[in-house]
Amino acid sequence: MTDVAASPSRPPIQESRFLKAVRREPVDATPVWLMRQAGRYMAEYRALRQRYTILELIKAPELACEVTLQPIEAFDLDAAIIFADILPPLEGMGLDLEFVRGEGPVLHNPVRSKADVDRLVVRPAEETLPFTLEAIRLVRRELDVKNIPLIGFSGAPFTLASYAVEGGGSKNRIHVKRMMMSAPDEWHALMSKLAEVAGDYLLAQARAGAHVLQLFDSWVGDLSPADYVAHVQPYSRRAIEIASAAGVPIIHFGTNTNGMLPAIRDAGGDVIGVDWRIELPDAWAILGDGVAVQGNLDPAALFAEWPDLARRTGHLLDSVAGRPGHIFNLGHGILPQTPVDNVRRLVDLVHERTSR
Ligand code: CP3
Repeated sequence: MTDVAASPSRPPIQESRFLKAVRREPVDATPVWLMRQAGRYMAEYRALRQRYTILELIKAPELACEVTLQPIEAFDLDAAIIFADILPPLEGMGLDLEFVRGEGPVLHNPVRSKADVDRLVVRPAEETLPFTLEAIRLVRRELDVKNIPLIGFSGAPFTLASYAVEGGGSKNRIHVKRMMMSAPDEWHALMSKLAEVAGDYLLAQARAGAHVLQLFDSWVGDLSPADYVAHVQPYSRRAIEIASAAGVPIIHFGTNTNGMLPAIRDAGGDVIGVDWRIELPDAWAILGDGVAVQGNLDPAALFAEWPDLARRTGHLLDSVAGRPGHIFNLGHGILPQTPVDNVRRLVDLVHERTSR
């Protein structure tokens, strides 16, 4: 493999496809990883879940390490993402978190008042989330021999606030939006705390060995662009600013963000993650040349018959046309019933079709 951008002084991991694409350097083939690549669609994961709850898996570093590696062993993926969740940091702040079967996450003491915000504690990730930092150290030992980079992640302040204030998943997010729109002091206090916690958690993950950090703002697309800029962007920017002290690249991801892409970009991030509601060249035209782009196949496309999935993937890759700085991913997390065979074939097809 000859490559003009290769620098003999950089460690080999920095020459991996994924890290090169993050830096918008030319690559030998487009890198691919999948959000939620470790999870219920894999029999190996379901087998472990027979014996442990999700929080038990997250809190036992050896088990979190094992789950992180499951998709790496099964598929030819170009990056691993540490097995964790966006919600344990809320537990560290004093919220009572439970994953209820069939229902999803529940926070039993949601944040609804000034007093609730005041009692949220901001403590270092080393104290509240040592298990994930230890899992990162364990995973690094396994991945280094394979030369595969590791992604650490955190929920962004708005998405965390959404769970903290609603007390779980929500359709209209009326409680969190009400606080945002009618209680500015409470909102500022809450979002400031969440920005510190998210930023510090990301920084700690980089220091533990994560090569790249991803900020998940999964529900931010529920806001108008003006509300995003006024009430959320400063806190996402702050979290990214704190995390940036580690000097590792950051992926800034949201869904339903088509109307606010410039504002998402301006909050920070070397890579912007977009969902399938926009064609990648259109997203890139809005975002400009200064960022790499991650995405954006509809996770539901994995339920199509293979020829159809291959056609959709081909369309996506043709539209990008080899532009440096594309990281292939889904537009949101992989779905639980996804056929494993389609995942394997998808990952291989991305490499084959973009091999240069
Ligand atoms: O990507 C990976 O492989 C790393 C692991 C990961 C999980 N959650 C494990 C998980 C990551 C990156 C997340 C992020 C996450 N968690 C987000 C942001 C990304 C997104 O999808 O929008 C959000 C919003 C959450 C919160 C969360 N965790 C919900 C709403 C649920 C329940 C709904 C569901 O999908 O089941 C979870 C549980 C969860 N987190 C599971 C996994 C594998 C499934 C739970 C189980 O094993 O029973």
